[in-house]
Amino acid sequence: MAPLLGRVAIVTGAAQGIGRGIAHCLAGDGADVVLADLALDGAREGAEQIERLGRSALAVRCDVSDAQSVADLVRRTVERFGHVDILVNNAGIKGAPGWLDEERTRPVDWDAAFQVNVKAQFLCAEAVAPHMIARRWGKIVNISSSSGREPSPFHPHYHATKAAVISYTQCLALQLAPYDINVNAICPAMVWTPMAYETHRWRRERGGEPGDDAREAFDARMRRRCPLQRETTPEDIGWAVCFLVSERARNITGQTIDVDGGAVMR
Ligand SMILES: NC(=O)c1ccc[n+]([C@@H]2O[C@H](COP(=O)([O-])OP(=O)(O)OC[C@H]3O[C@@H](n4cnc5c(N)ncnc54)[C@H](O)[C@@H]3O)[C@@H](O)[C@H]2O)c1
Repeated sequence: MAPLLGRVAIVTGAAQGIGRGIAHCLAGDGADVVLADLALDGAREGAEQIERLGRSALAVRCDVSDAQSVADLVRRTVERFGHVDILVNNAGIKGAPGWLDEERTRPVDWDAAFQVNVKAQFLCAEAVAPHMIARRWGKIVNISSSSGREPSPFHPHYHATKAAVISYTQCLALQLAPYDINVNAICPAMVWTPMAYETHRWRRERGGEPGDDAREAFDARMRRRCPLQRETTPEDIGWAVCFLVSERARNITGQTIDVDGGAVMR
């Protein structure tokens, strides 16, 4: 039984990492999936993998921080599949280009991170909402982070964006509740992706994290933070998304769920 059969999902930042995993899990549950990313090659590769499993997928080059690009994404989705039921706002960045080489956060990192991590979620939600409202069915999942739950002396701009995602999720849930549209957020932590590689390279070189390389620094931090002593996989996040967009979660909205091996408890 494929619970999402006939549903159409857009996943942003789906060329790699967590977004790729979410796209695969949604397709596994029967959805047709649009993989949107700045990196078209990675999105195409993910779409081809999904099609080999017998599901429909479309790769679209999109800059989620640009309203016109987002409008094109939704137009192409509706052209190909007829409607849009699910939006997963996953695309995110750590900072502006060059952040890896910097000891401290720069003003450009604040600007870039708020553009992509927060404002883009608003742009994508605004673009899909009319389609969901017309059918009175829709599910939006915003990807936040354990960084939005806890402070850190490093990269305050990133933490602030992820806390903003939690607040925005609650506001959007209130706005869309009258149309029976659910909006929730997920906070991942310790998922080994290209972003995690860069973060732990930075933490080892500049933040005093132990380890001979980024992977060792990641493992050491995971063991310190996660009571379950297990890293989170992109599929762990994807399965949580599948639950939140399923009818089993029909009465859950405005919530933020931590999927992180127990790193954050509240
Ligand atoms: N990896 C982790 O441990 C972790 C933990 C907590 C939260 N997150 C969050 O999960 C999400 C995915 O993280 P990841 O680790 O897979 O990152 P990643 O860097 O590996 O992948 C992010 C993807 O987003 C795309 N992207 C970036 N800017 C874009 C833009 N303007 N338009 C379209 N696409 C864009 C990138 O091209 C890339 O494919 C992010 O929001 C991140 O903040 C990750």
